[in-house]
Amino acid sequence: MAITGGKPLNGEIVVRGAKNAVAKEMVAALLTKESCLLKNVSDVQDTEIVASMIRAMGGEVLRQENGTLEIKSANLHAVHYRELKHIAGKSRIPILFAGPLLARFHEAMLPELGGCGIGERPIDFHLDALQKMGATIEMIPKGVHLKAKKLIGAKIHLQFSSVGATEQVLLAGVLAEGVTTLTNAAIEPEILDLISVLQKMGAIISVDIDRTITITGVKELKAYEHSAIPDRNETVSWACAAAATDGKIKVKNARQADIMTFLSTFRLVGGEFEVEDDGITFLRGQSGLKPITIETGVHPGFMTDWQQPMTILLTQANGTSIIHETVYEERFGYVHALNEMGAKIELHTECLGGKICRYSQEGYEHSAIITGPTPLHAAKITVPDLRAGFSYVVAALVAQGTSTIGNIGLISRGYENFMEKLKSLGAEVGEWRGVFIPAETEIL
Ligand code: EPZ
Repeated sequence: MAITGGKPLNGEIVVRGAKNAVAKEMVAALLTKESCLLKNVSDVQDTEIVASMIRAMGGEVLRQENGTLEIKSANLHAVHYRELKHIAGKSRIPILFAGPLLARFHEAMLPELGGCGIGERPIDFHLDALQKMGATIEMIPKGVHLKAKKLIGAKIHLQFSSVGATEQVLLAGVLAEGVTTLTNAAIEPEILDLISVLQKMGAIISVDIDRTITITGVKELKAYEHSAIPDRNETVSWACAAAATDGKIKVKNARQADIMTFLSTFRLVGGEFEVEDDGITFLRGQSGLKPITIETGVHPGFMTDWQQPMTILLTQANGTSIIHETVYEERFGYVHALNEMGAKIELHTECLGGKICRYSQEGYEHSAIITGPTPLHAAKITVPDLRAGFSYVVAALVAQGTSTIGNIGLISRGYENFMEKLKSLGAEVGEWRGVFIPAETEIL
């Protein structure tokens, strides 16, 4: 993809269902033999990966024109992980199939996981929870083999409020025998949306103010019909793109309640926004962009998935900002390419900004000092992961000259109609017809 920078993004785009909710809600449909209807589903690659796994196991996923998925799993059957080879290494969602498959077949063979390379991303919390609930686990070459005559309610504590592990316990606990109590659970809006789906299906779940989730197992669940919450990570990405390019973007369907922390931060750095019934409009304020100190964290904190677009914005702010990444140990690798484009970002292994996190003594470069404003210039860059990829595009939009960005397909894992949206906002984008040498950054 070739992008010529220097032009503001202006206009209106629509966000649909959050990829990080939809994928899990598709898995929830396997907890019943009845057909489920999931609406407001965006057309992103991650959804297709989950659909393809369901189909490989005999289920059906039918996409209707209007973004509604019909998920039928009456004929679902257990498969050997070799039959899921095409899924291996592509996503983190397969591990969440454990609960529904154990409930239905008492056995699950899951392929090896993938997802963005932003840290080690172990699954020990998932496996520990399933073991506590009575599953036996065998690590097999390139996958996991789980067995359980039945899952039994248990008391589980998470050392860290992991989104995936919380979803694992929810999907396993709803049909387990007895009560499951999960302490230090994650409570992201996507998780609450999954709980809404499970509740519609007949599950009994309560969420306490101290991050305790209690699940009272039931014997069976029924079909659901649900409209997924809009993608707040996509909203935040476009908000930062608007302010970074000094444009104005209305994100239709964006929901204020899900991004309160972002909105306050955006205002502090000099962004402006207007909330309307049908969406939120974002722009740069008259007094310019200001520096800030941010620490990423679990909800309701500042999401780790917002760190990358915010970094680009801060390269254009007037002063020195700090971002302390506390969720993933290696989520700043992408900044080297930005520095080659003219940004001034220093990485540090210490916890900067005030608080100490679990990576303080680990030697990971997880704090960044961003000095702005720095003019950016065009470069040849390769997308390393989803959110960093979006940020590279914004950097290229801010930069003078024409940048070329390789591995752009990765962005479609999580951003629907990405190219079309960019073009409709006035971005000067075109096809790059050259040959890319992966991981190379070359200044043009
Ligand atoms: C989800 O990943 C999202 N992915 C991520 O979105 C998001 O960044 C993350 O939650 C945090 O909000 C999906 O929903 C598909 P975690 P998940 O379990 O569930 C450690 C994006 O760009 N951990 O909350 O995998 C882990 O290594 C992405 O859309 C363990 O140590 O995240 C990490 O440091 C990327 N052991 C931390 O917890 C475990 O068993 C948080 O991970 C599980 C997690």
